[in-house]
Amino acid sequence: MSEKAKISYGGKEYEVPVVVGTENEHALDISSLRSQSGLITLDYGYKNTGSTSSAITYLDGENGILRYRGYPIEQLAEKSSFIEVAYLLIYGELPTQLELQKFEGDIRNNGMVHEDYKRILSGFPSRSHPMGVLSSLVTSLTAFFPQSLDPNRSPEGVNLSIMRILAKMPTFAAWTYKHKIGHPLNYPSPHMDYCSNYLHMMFNQPGTEYEVDPVVSNALDKLLILHADHEQNCSTSTVRITGSSMGSLYTSVSAGINALWGPLHGGANMAVIEMLENIREDGGDTKKWMDKAKDKDDPFRLMGFGHRVYKNFDPRARIIKKAADDVLIKLGVSDPILDIAKGLEEVALNDEYFVERKLYPNVDFYSGIIYRALGIPVDMFTVMFALGRLPGWIAQWKEMRENKEPIGRPRQVYTGYNERPYKPLNER
Ligand code: SDX
Repeated sequence: MSEKAKISYGGKEYEVPVVVGTENEHALDISSLRSQSGLITLDYGYKNTGSTSSAITYLDGENGILRYRGYPIEQLAEKSSFIEVAYLLIYGELPTQLELQKFEGDIRNNGMVHEDYKRILSGFPSRSHPMGVLSSLVTSLTAFFPQSLDPNRSPEGVNLSIMRILAKMPTFAAWTYKHKIGHPLNYPSPHMDYCSNYLHMMFNQPGTEYEVDPVVSNALDKLLILHADHEQNCSTSTVRITGSSMGSLYTSVSAGINALWGPLHGGANMAVIEMLENIREDGGDTKKWMDKAKDKDDPFRLMGFGHRVYKNFDPRARIIKKAADDVLIKLGVSDPILDIAKGLEEVALNDEYFVERKLYPNVDFYSGIIYRALGIPVDMFTVMFALGRLPGWIAQWKEMRENKEPIGRPRQVYTGYNERPYKPLNER
């Protein structure tokens, strides 16, 4: 017998069921509240509201826990690969050797995109923001694969759509970069692993043969694993609500890319580097910038700090911080802004304002330092986040569709004018 919660209002009492998750999270199921009482709930930014139930990713914000399908992120980052994690998120289990070989082979062999994509790309000014180009290229997949729009597509057809976008996203991302810098495009190679192929498409130039450094491709693979999913964050919720109208996978992912773009979300990894560079150019006075971050009248926020769910260390930030040290040492790169970042973290973790609000470094605080060391330009950082998050978006869209969830349509509290008569122009 499921537990019930009582809500009393206006001299009446109402009962709603309590839903308990597998990690003992408790939630009030208020789906019957309005029909019982006429009441709705209001929760700006859904800070206390669950939009769905999901078996994909588990976060414990108080204890800094992150697991994909039950596997701790620390173990996956250390022992798995991005392609294997993508399979795990999308299909729910770690693949067998045969399953992984087929999954990876399908991805390697489908990286090519229609030659007409060169014409689509050429329509964008080189100064276009890569995230805007990327979301357009993804939406364009519906033009080349119109059957992906079928809301009643067979599971085999959905899998074909999934494999195609997983395989082509690295090509889109690399071509977006090459178009921006005015360099010739590189074709994907089925003879390289996922990260090596992406790096080759990004950095190979005519007349030279770009050699992929295993340190670089391994670091990139780890970063993509760490970004692969994160339950109902802003962009994933956007993917789910777009898909809930029977929107296709490609249009839902494109919507997610645009939500991720915002500086409060995935765009923060770019904003962190810009912030650290400003602090460096300003003489490295971290106290001045901390004071700005705490000043309510100053719009400046410490980018890469704070999180809606984590009220302890973001476990991904811990892993990335260590990886940043390792990669810079292995590549023989020293980056002065890493020391500024560490200094800022040190001061913030001992500052009452940050301690009181439980503001810790999040996934975006150190990731940009590694991307820089890998030679990836700042304006491509959020594209890298999207590349990593793609399997999570796919898994969440697929789960929402398989669970036949209703179209997302929140309620509101109206605060506008009460009824009033139309006023003719000469009376206004
Ligand atoms: C991602 O949701 C996810 O899972 C996202 C993500 C994922 O993997 O998908 O983890 C990826 O988006 C990470 C977050 C990247 N964004 C940033 O680093 C931008 C800087 N951070 C903040 O803007 C903020 O912390 C958010 C947006 C991340 C969270 O905002 P909330 O939960 O809405 O919290 P809030 O804005 O209400 O802040 C609570 C208090 C406020 O102060 P008071 O009004 O209580 O006095 O904390 C303060 C805020 O002013 N605060 C900050 C701060 N973050 C919060 N003050 C200074 N610097 C900051 N970074």
